[in-house]
Amino acid sequence: MNALIMYYSRKGRTEQLAKTIQSDLGCDILKIEPDKPFGNFVSVLSRESHDRNKPENGTHAVTAVPDLSGYDVVLVGYPIWQTEMPEFLAQFLEACDFAGKTVIPFATCASTGIQPSLKRMSTVVGTDCDLLNPLCFGAGHHDDYRSWLNKTRELAELAANKDDDRDQDDSDASDEEDGNA
Ligand SMILES: Cc1cc2nc3c(=O)[nH]c(=O)nc-3n(C[C@H](O)[C@H](O)[C@H](O)COP(=O)(O)O)c2cc1C
Repeated sequence: MNALIMYYSRKGRTEQLAKTIQSDLGCDILKIEPDKPFGNFVSVLSRESHDRNKPENGTHAVTAVPDLSGYDVVLVGYPIWQTEMPEFLAQFLEACDFAGKTVIPFATCASTGIQPSLKRMSTVVGTDCDLLNPLCFGAGHHDDYRSWLNKTRELAELAANKDDDRDQDDSDASDEEDGNA
């Protein structure tokens, strides 16, 4: 499967979910690391507030922006912080090129769910991709993992076929340019 999982995890829950998904899908995985590790709950809150207000001198990812050109599907995982995705991750995603991709967000949380974070997510990944099939696990919020996984496999298949159709269209167009019937 031409899929990449990109994720951040402070305490390991999102990482555990990312690794389960990787083993079920058999795809690549990339952990996004901040320049300074996040500490306890209170320090995360104060750094998040700073990062959201003054991003220029806030937390940045040290992970290099990946080349996504070889992937049809990109899964993006994060912990929910104050109903949102971590700000440094949002800024990292802004630098990635999601054009033409199927983007699947997943998160772990206490109870809020992933929905409130998807507005920001859709802004940072841009309008030129399909943002679909979100998954969230928390104490008070549990999506059905098996049906999510089946849907993800279906979406990956559709995305791969879309790619094949595009390649065929390109080759038809170049045949026409060359005067081939
Ligand atoms: C600063 C901070 C803010 C949080 N805000 C929320 C929240 O708004 N809603 C929620 O359901 N969980 C919230 N949580 C709980 C985390 O989303 C949850 O513990 C998550 O599974 C941690 O993932 P990790 O182990 O990958 O870091 C918050 C946690 C922290 C540290």
